[in-house]
Amino acid sequence: MNFSNQLDFALELDASDPLKSYRDLFHIPRHHGAEVAYFTGNSLGLQPKSARAYVERVMKDWETMAVEGHFYSKEPWWEYHEKLAAPLASLVGAKIPEVSVMNTLTVNLHFLMVSFYRPSPKRFKILCEEKAFPSDQYMLQSQVKFHGYDPETAIVTVKKRPGENVWREEDLLEAIESHGDTLALVLMGGVNYYNGQVFPMESITAKAKEHGAFVGWDLAHAVGNVPLQLHDWGVDFASWCSYKYLNSGPGNAAAIYINEQYLNRTDLPRFEGWWGTDKGLRFKMEPNFTPMDNADAWQVSNAPILAMAPFLASLDIFKSVPPEELWTKQSLLVSYMSFIIESIAARAPFDIIILTPEHRGSQLSVYFQEHGRAIFDYLMSHGVVTDWREPNVMRFAPVPLYNSFKDIHTLGKRLEEGINKAILT
Ligand SMILES: Cc1ncc(COP(=O)(O)O)c(C=O)c1O
Repeated sequence: MNFSNQLDFALELDASDPLKSYRDLFHIPRHHGAEVAYFTGNSLGLQPKSARAYVERVMKDWETMAVEGHFYSKEPWWEYHEKLAAPLASLVGAKIPEVSVMNTLTVNLHFLMVSFYRPSPKRFKILCEEKAFPSDQYMLQSQVKFHGYDPETAIVTVKKRPGENVWREEDLLEAIESHGDTLALVLMGGVNYYNGQVFPMESITAKAKEHGAFVGWDLAHAVGNVPLQLHDWGVDFASWCSYKYLNSGPGNAAAIYINEQYLNRTDLPRFEGWWGTDKGLRFKMEPNFTPMDNADAWQVSNAPILAMAPFLASLDIFKSVPPEELWTKQSLLVSYMSFIIESIAARAPFDIIILTPEHRGSQLSVYFQEHGRAIFDYLMSHGVVTDWREPNVMRFAPVPLYNSFKDIHTLGKRLEEGINKAILT
């Protein structure tokens, strides 16, 4: 498609967008009375308008039934989490029993490493991308130390080549190959939080399995953002938060995926609690743990229902969207944004470079050689919500469920104004 930077062009794209009505399902924050152009769905998704009613339903049941709500409310709390498994399984390409909702992301990765990081003197290394999200780095380091190994030798980080902005697939595969049977685990982000690159999850998984390592993915930036086929790719485990592209609300509950081959395995260690025990036995309060025959066996505590309510509201929206329409609109939005940013970059007196490769989801990470922080401040104070990553990168994520092409046109106008103002001051 030939893009244009005229407003009419953006409005035409909006008029022919088959998902345009979805924007109305979300609260768009306002700045001086006008809706902002919101590009931080990769950090915190917008609130579905239906979320409040889902929460209020739980509040009402609690008000009127109190403890009886666990079993006798219309949506009994003791099995409320089960409603989330099917829509999530469809978003990550899993079988329903392979998915459960519990805890938060970093906590889940720790729990999953109890099962899937079992180092031995010969096979003790973990491979990840260099500068993975800090929480993952801290998690990996603390796990390695917990097992008595040295992060310096046990954690292998794959770097980008000097002067390049993306990881090359051949370098990732080569690193797995060269560490071979010393690798206990490959645990990476499916989409890198900083540059927005989508990693070749299928080929990395296959290569790691070929060398006998377990493979897990942190899907914080991938779920709801790119198509996933965890089961068919043979991924061992994964976890993801729900507050980014899944629009569930700040700090909300996370989910896990465990490949079905590990369900019902008695030889796999796991930290256990009463919510993972077989439903039929849970309230018999027996001394021994009898696991659920699905990923719920990894659940530990009873579920946070008030948090799961807005999460369910959001998943009910996803259920109604044909995934192909989501990906088609995403590709168009991001290509249009790339066109707008590149045409501004061509006129700017300093380098403005899109770091994100073609293999991407919604996010574009943009390097500003100069004035980045001042331009970011200008955008934020003029109704364009984006985010700043030190020392010189801004991330923009147009989300197909609620962003319009007009939002991107607005970004272009404000970006140009911000650059001009920064140069003059
Ligand atoms: C890639 C990635 N991993 C892990 C986390 C940490 O998530 P949480 O604080 O929910 O554990 C984040 C948070 O933004 C993230 O982006």
